[in-house]
Amino acid sequence: MKPDTLSESGYRVTEDADLSRHNSFRVPARAQWLIEVDDARALPEVFELGAVKSSPVLVLGEGSNVLLTRGWPGVVLVPAMRGIRILEDRGDAALVRVGAGENWNEFVHWSLGRGFAGLENLILIPGSVGAAPIQNIGAYGVEVREFIATVEAFDRRTGQYVRIDNATCTFAYRDSVFKRDPDRFVVTAVEFLLPRSRELVLDYAGVRDELVAMNIDDPNHAAVAEAVMRLRLRKLPNPAQIGNAGSFFKNPVVPAALADALLRANPALPCWPATDGNRKLSAAWLVDAAGFKGAREGDAGVSERHALVLVNHGNATGAQIHALAHHIIDAVDARYGIRLEPEPRIV
Ligand code: FAD
Ligand code: EPU
Repeated sequence: MKPDTLSESGYRVTEDADLSRHNSFRVPARAQWLIEVDDARALPEVFELGAVKSSPVLVLGEGSNVLLTRGWPGVVLVPAMRGIRILEDRGDAALVRVGAGENWNEFVHWSLGRGFAGLENLILIPGSVGAAPIQNIGAYGVEVREFIATVEAFDRRTGQYVRIDNATCTFAYRDSVFKRDPDRFVVTAVEFLLPRSRELVLDYAGVRDELVAMNIDDPNHAAVAEAVMRLRLRKLPNPAQIGNAGSFFKNPVVPAALADALLRANPALPCWPATDGNRKLSAAWLVDAAGFKGAREGDAGVSERHALVLVNHGNATGAQIHALAHHIIDAVDARYGIRLEPEPRIV
């Protein structure tokens, strides 16, 4: 494979690539090859390249939900397809196709700027549009699955392009068919059905109070976007200033009987209803109560602002952050009998 810019072929190849700027933890790691694909039509050719056929392939968007514990001994493939296009305008809603390489937050701004409603609670989530369906990104009471009509992808198993409808994506809390089968699909574009009006979602803790603090008593979609931005900027450490991947653990979903028993012993533990009669518990509270908020092992640490966010204070390696995560998992398990599961992909 020739390391060079092969823009006319729809992809660009870099040999021995530095991944430290391709992961929001900003841990050091290198890949043997980095291939940025601008044109989805190049994917069959890319997967026929000798180096791609003979080595492992890791698909990476903007790297804001991965922990690289070592270098990658093969190909890192970045879907970089751009473009936002209205495919069909139905008046009360429109079908919008977005390239996988578009930035999620820029797309949210695009949608609000054109009078579409609904994505305001998902503002400021880092990452690419192509990654949004992978873990069904969610925040402040809304999940992206509510807007996804179709995911366009390249199926690495069959070498075919596929269109996957919403039901087939089997979205769940921080989960989808893509997350369960991580080496199968390269998402190339996402088609969203965006409404022009939609009831505001204000019930997530903090949103109404933030609107009051902004002196807004009759909020619209733009005001909710502003409130969510203010909350996020206050609560979460900024990856541009300190490496992190957002929540490091998923909120555990447990049977109601187990939640009730834990609540009897720990009345302050936040607990929400989940699907199938289960309950979702606050992982942040568990990590905080186990004494880890602000903890540090060398440059690997837990944010002082939010107990669910592991951070790189400067020179931590992915392996050190991974070791800290395991110490937290074991401590929370020993104290509460709950084994936390990481949210980011551990590479
Ligand atoms: P990456 O980190 O590059 O990849 C994540 C996973 O998706 C990997 O398994 C990768 O292989 C796969 N992948 C990426 N792109 C593709 C593709 N095109 N085709 C196939 N597979 C692909 N998430 C939330 O849900 N809610 C939040 O509120 C939230 N807040 C965050 C706050 C901060 C400060 C940070 C750093 C992260 C936060 N996250 C949140 C996590 C992250 O923003 C999302 O998971 C985001 O979708 C990751 O996008 P990415 O492009 O960086 O994906
Ligand atoms: N809490 C603590 N200590 C802390 C922080 C929080 O005890 O240091 C407790 C508080 O009681 C708080 C509760 O945890 O009320 C919930 O905290 P928060 O509202 O910050 O939400 P979260 O459950 O920690 C989830 C998502 C976030 C998303 C927010 C807002 C997961 C794993 N995380 O966090 O997503 O932005 O809700 O919807 O579901 C991400 O996935 O990377 C992410 C940041």
